[in-house]
Amino acid sequence: MRLSLSTQIMSQKLIAPSVLASDFGNLQRDVEMINNSEADWFHIDIMDGVFVPNISFGMPVLKAITQHAQKTIDVHLMIVEPDRYIKNFAELGANILSVHYEACTHLHRTLQAIKAEGMKAGVAINPHTNVDLLKDVIKDIDLVCIMSVNPGFGGQSFIENTYAKVQRLKEIIAVNNAETLIEIDGGVTDKNAAQLTKAGADVLVAGSYVFRAEDQPQTIKNLKEIANS
Ligand code: DX5
Ligand code: ZN
Repeated sequence: MRLSLSTQIMSQKLIAPSVLASDFGNLQRDVEMINNSEADWFHIDIMDGVFVPNISFGMPVLKAITQHAQKTIDVHLMIVEPDRYIKNFAELGANILSVHYEACTHLHRTLQAIKAEGMKAGVAINPHTNVDLLKDVIKDIDLVCIMSVNPGFGGQSFIENTYAKVQRLKEIIAVNNAETLIEIDGGVTDKNAAQLTKAGADVLVAGSYVFRAEDQPQTIKNLKEIANS
């Protein structure tokens, strides 16, 4: 049984390991590791080689993941024309579907289409995109994914300007009386987790930091403790 977003936010800051950094040759093992850890969500990166200069994986692999995953499925679409696939992702078991601000000409319509399929609607923004651009739709957004690296690859360095973006977005959410969650994606480690959650982040995505670790469940546990410190 997957928990709803609102139940989770009230209690604690969440950790979402990014499956992109897992060992695809042992995908089921790594999915089970996340199931049995203190992680809260599965973060799934879908890249099309057009919106970003990399191709990750598509529907069959997502299907394999969702067959075993027992936690919230948070899908991050780094693709052009995401509207074409909203229904497919709902059918594959996505609970949260994030599209990129930079890939949507009619963002408001896209958000309604995601919700109409029973998913939470997320918007991801590139490092160069100002959070103020989301003001007019903030009440329609369940989750803003602030990219703290340029999307396309795992293992990049965290962009320091992210803290200021989180603070500004938090203000926008408060002023508008919205319930939007703030997620940070890219370069998250034990070095920046506490500062990010103090600035207002609710969900931290971590790929290489988790999967390069010797003891992955312990690393997730530590990151969660730091995020909630
Ligand atoms: C980057 C992806 C991220 C990535 C994070 O385009 O959206 O989710 O997997 O990986 P790390 O934590 O290694 O930066
Ligand atoms: Zn991502």
